[in-house]
Amino acid sequence: MTGQTRRFVKKLDLPAYEIEPANPFFEIKEPFVLAVPTYDQEIMDVVYDFLDHEQNASLLKGIIGSGNRNFAELFVYAAKQLAKDYQAPLLHAIEFSGTVEDVDTIKKVVNELES
Ligand SMILES: Cc1cc2nc3c(=O)[nH]c(=O)nc-3n(C[C@H](O)[C@H](O)[C@H](O)COP(=O)(O)O)c2cc1C
Repeated sequence: MTGQTRRFVKKLDLPAYEIEPANPFFEIKEPFVLAVPTYDQEIMDVVYDFLDHEQNASLLKGIIGSGNRNFAELFVYAAKQLAKDYQAPLLHAIEFSGTVEDVDTIKKVVNELES
């Protein structure tokens, strides 16, 4: 919505696909990690539509939550809920577009998932 998650994913410099809210029914054909911001359920519905499309959910390897700690116990709750709903690990949580350390952490995690 405000470009923070997109900016973080760009910094990873990894192949990436961005869910299109107008048409989330894209079939992803390889294992992937999902990065999501935190908003109310009706805004997150497109992510569920994407995951429920074809075999997408079965290829989900983990989730990265982007949020704001000012929301206290609601920090990255959308990613936590998705992790529960799809039995996928919450790999990491970031604020804004993530720090250099966040980029390093995720690159390592993705490398481990690949090997
Ligand atoms: C209306 C609104 C509600 C939000 N609610 C939460 C929240 O409950 N928990 C949280 O951690 N962040 C919350 N955020 C912060 C965003 O999820 C966070 O800034 C995120 O990095 C935005 O990603 P985006 O730019 O990719 O949309 C909210 C932001 C807005 C504008």
